[in-house]
Amino acid sequence: MPSVLLVLFLQLWAPTWAAGNQDFVQCVHDHYSSKTSTAPSISKLIYTPGDASYTSVLQSTIMNPRFNDTSTIHKPLAIFIPQFDSHVQAAVLCCRKHELRLRIRSGGHDFEGLSYLSVSPSNDDFVMIDLTKLRAVHDVNPETRTAWVQSGATLGELYYAISQKSRVLAFPAGFWPTVGVGGHFSGGGSGALSRKFGLAADNVIDARLIDAEGKVLDRASMGEDLFWAIRGGGGNTFGVVTAWKINLLPVPPSVTVFNLTRAVEESATELVHRWQYAADKLPEDVSSFLVSLSSKMASFQGLYLGEIKTLLPLFEEKFPELGLSEGDCSEMSWIDSVLYFLGSESVETLLRRTGEPARKVKSKSDFVQEPLPEDAVDGIWRILAEVGPEEGVLQLEAHGGKMSEVPEFSIPYPHRAGNVYMIQYYAYWDGNGVETEERHLDWIRRLEGYLAPFVSQGPRGAYVNARDLDLGMNGDAAAGRAWSCEQGSDWGRRYYKGNFERLVRVKTDVDPANFFRNEQSIPPFFLGSRHVGE
Ligand SMILES: Cc1cc2nc3c(=O)[nH]c(=O)nc-3n(C[C@H](O)[C@H](O)[C@H](O)COP(=O)(O)OP(=O)(O)OC[C@H]3O[C@@H](n4cnc5c(N)ncnc54)[C@H](O)[C@@H]3O)c2cc1C
Ligand SMILES: *[C@@H]1O[C@H](CO)[C@@H](O)[C@H](O)[C@H]1NC(C)=O
Ligand SMILES: *[C@@H]1O[C@H](CO)[C@@H](O)[C@H](O)[C@H]1NC(C)=O
Repeated sequence: MPSVLLVLFLQLWAPTWAAGNQDFVQCVHDHYSSKTSTAPSISKLIYTPGDASYTSVLQSTIMNPRFNDTSTIHKPLAIFIPQFDSHVQAAVLCCRKHELRLRIRSGGHDFEGLSYLSVSPSNDDFVMIDLTKLRAVHDVNPETRTAWVQSGATLGELYYAISQKSRVLAFPAGFWPTVGVGGHFSGGGSGALSRKFGLAADNVIDARLIDAEGKVLDRASMGEDLFWAIRGGGGNTFGVVTAWKINLLPVPPSVTVFNLTRAVEESATELVHRWQYAADKLPEDVSSFLVSLSSKMASFQGLYLGEIKTLLPLFEEKFPELGLSEGDCSEMSWIDSVLYFLGSESVETLLRRTGEPARKVKSKSDFVQEPLPEDAVDGIWRILAEVGPEEGVLQLEAHGGKMSEVPEFSIPYPHRAGNVYMIQYYAYWDGNGVETEERHLDWIRRLEGYLAPFVSQGPRGAYVNARDLDLGMNGDAAAGRAWSCEQGSDWGRRYYKGNFERLVRVKTDVDPANFFRNEQSIPPFFLGSRHVGE
């Protein structure tokens, strides 16, 4: 028990008179007409619902088709596509002036759509800035092993740009190429190199941020607390990060990928059970080791920073039951390994901003600290059988290695030593019926309930990039319900554990009026908060 129990009241955003979007457009225009450049074209970067292309611009990166019916979502009053940091500043200042909220979209992959829609009960009117034109990857420098990447770039664009400069440098971030740098880094970012190098956010060394006052800050001017908070404390909370300076990490010219699938009849259950005992203990050169579970099939996949001839004896020693053989493995360059996990052959795939047609999806996450008993794995197959073959997937992603060496308080992502693996689980469906949706939501909630006894407790961990509004949201407290750092808002504790208080402190320092907010953004201390006990 900490000695000070701080009882907070969630700050209520009093609904204010909503300015029309014309006020916003006018304000941005005025902001620029006083300057020399770009004034004539600025209005062309702003779309309002009356514009013919508003809907297609809005939908351009609605990546979860659950929210693609734009007649039913609470959508932006205006969409602004900034081309320069100064445009972002104007967006912040004009939103503040007209008491509008601002939402920020980079890749549009938020599982709950929070970058482009509002679900809070108060349903504030908001402007969305879409960073799609702020997507350069520049100063990729093999000498200093650093690069700058703007938030609107996708992971695919980042990987591509690095591979154009070097075959032996890489960056540890997620698997999926259309995920946006802005949202991904803001929540941590794990992927095929995490066991070796940690999260994307662990490898950020500087950033450009536009704060709630419209000021442009870098690491030196924002200070270490704020710089700490933006590396995993969740997006749309501390400001707009327009660019990140990253460390590039060394990989061998040739790496090994492996993929081996076993059906339940081929002892998948025993293997998944046994996997848990090997997963986090392998050397960190096995930079990724995961299992995907779907209807009676387990696929064991991974990346090894070395050659097949050293990988095979390693598995023979540490996980002989898997029976990994040369035929399950291939050697290739790191950039080809990125493509391998996508099932693609062309490096140009990485530059496509939108992928194949997506399916509706609901995600959840958990952390496992003690291996599940074998009959619990059996139970997972039974639950998977309750939905169609492609409709339920669990992905078990090994921690250990660097993931467990980084201290829990180093950046906001707290799920470090002691966690054997993370589970991300998904329900997928097609079609428009409410019933179909409800059935799949019920299903994943049942799975969540089923896993409860086997996963981390007090608090049960969750990964902010697997955004899940079932864990609660800021608007829930609209009735003025008190909550405390001790009990936490459920989502705050679950995403950030003991880092939540520091995030609240930073938020209170840099944005006490709570200008940047969404359903799961860190709230500032309510100014009238009481201290109870010492
Ligand atoms: C198909 C798919 C695959 C995925 N694979 C992985 C994976 O391998 N590893 C992993 O860790 N995660 C993965 N994720 C999760 C992903 O990291 C998160 O959804 C991430 O937040 C998406 O970032 P985005 O920019 O695409 O999303 P957006 O929807 O644009 O943004 C997400 C959140 O961040 C905020 N935000 C966006 N840009 C900024 C900015 N510049 N400044 C401040 N706030 C900002 C938004 O307002 C929103 O709240 C995956 C998701 C999907 C849908
Ligand atoms: C959303 O709808 C538009 C228009 O019908 C379509 O072009 C787009 O592919 C859809 N997006 C998704 C993710 O399904
Ligand atoms: C792994 O193998 C399974 C079964 O053959 C296949 O469905 C899956 O696409 C493969 N994954 C990769 C990344 O190659």
